[in-house]
Amino acid sequence: MSKATIAVLPGDGVGPEVTACALDVLAVVEERYRHSFTFHEGLVGLDAIRAEGTAISDSTFETCAHSDAVLFGAVGSLPAGQARADGPRPEQALFRLRKELGLFANLRPVHPFEPLYGASSLKPEHLKGTDMIFVRELSAGLYYGRLESVPGKPSEIRRTAARTEAVDTLLYTEEEIERVVRAAFEIAEARASRLTSVDKANVLSSSVLWREVVERVAADHPSVAWEHMLVDTCAMRLVRTPADFDVIVTENLFGDILTDEAAMLTGSIGMLPSASLGSRRTASGMFGLYEPVHGSAPDIAGRDMANPVGAVLSAALLLRHSLGLDQEAAAVEAAVEHVVRDGCRTVDIAEAGHAAVGTREMGRRIVDRLRRT
Ligand SMILES: NC(=O)c1ccc[n+]([C@@H]2O[C@H](COP(=O)([O-])OP(=O)(O)OC[C@H]3O[C@@H](n4cnc5c(N)ncnc54)[C@H](O)[C@@H]3O)[C@@H](O)[C@H]2O)c1
Repeated sequence: MSKATIAVLPGDGVGPEVTACALDVLAVVEERYRHSFTFHEGLVGLDAIRAEGTAISDSTFETCAHSDAVLFGAVGSLPAGQARADGPRPEQALFRLRKELGLFANLRPVHPFEPLYGASSLKPEHLKGTDMIFVRELSAGLYYGRLESVPGKPSEIRRTAARTEAVDTLLYTEEEIERVVRAAFEIAEARASRLTSVDKANVLSSSVLWREVVERVAADHPSVAWEHMLVDTCAMRLVRTPADFDVIVTENLFGDILTDEAAMLTGSIGMLPSASLGSRRTASGMFGLYEPVHGSAPDIAGRDMANPVGAVLSAALLLRHSLGLDQEAAAVEAAVEHVVRDGCRTVDIAEAGHAAVGTREMGRRIVDRLRRT
């Protein structure tokens, strides 16, 4: 039996809807495999701003920091007209969690299910054999230009009488690159031993340094066949020959964009889970934050339309990486695959003319399947 403490931050929009399904799945795992999970739910994003004046309070942050894992839904922007330029923004919660909890490696597996090939924007023959994982650097780069306020190189809009200009800072230290690249090579060793490092070394100094570090780290992993690839080439190859990729490691912004593109291979952004890991160990794994790749999806929030699969598969990653429960994680993944193979579809993955179920029904079917495993 495993004991674990899990912080739960459902957040905004569809976040609470999909997180509820992930929690139902964890409850079944707890019961069926006789584990003991303690859940601590906290406010994050818009609700936290309204109630506590900040996207994540110190006490919610401390709850996360003292847990074995964080299960996160999504956070989303304030409606137009309500946001103050200098006021708190919902995404600051995620930035704080990632940075202050040292979560530098964001794992995003992309494995299109064969029964969903028809829901993808690619032809089935291009999808066959596709099974890749992105390792996105998560706690540096352009996203932290503003927060770090690098002297003389901030992220800001500068307005003077003469002109208006904007600047963003893409800063990486050697250490920040090395720790994520090492993590990616280790993941490659446990998979098909192929790694693609994606950058823009023909333009960016940060990418030139990225390449230097990759070449040094690669020497420690002789069994891994690796390559450098420019981000524009990678964007093209992802939709041309996606099955060629195994592990893709890249910096923060490129990873953000490429993984949304790759999500389309699976049929919907609602299908993709993620795990954000650092170097802190738990009793049987690594501390991590787990969330679906999608955002708060305000256009469908509150309408029982969101696909909960990304959130449920994130719970499976939590079981595997933070709690060391591989068998339970595999059972959750198998339950999802089974339900999809049975023809159950939320609207985002339903082919034209096929009936779709709501978020709750999709979650219920996954739970039922898991109970019968
Ligand atoms: N990690 C996060 O919390 C996160 C990530 C991305 C965006 N955001 C925020 O979310 C808000 C909305 O951003 P966006 O609209 O660009 O991205 P989004 O991911 O929320 O939505 C993009 C599109 O995908 C659809 N979609 C998203 N999740 C879905 C699901 N589970 N099932 C079915 N369809 C789904 C939406 O309906 C929408 O059409 C913004 O405020 C953005 O900053 C948050």
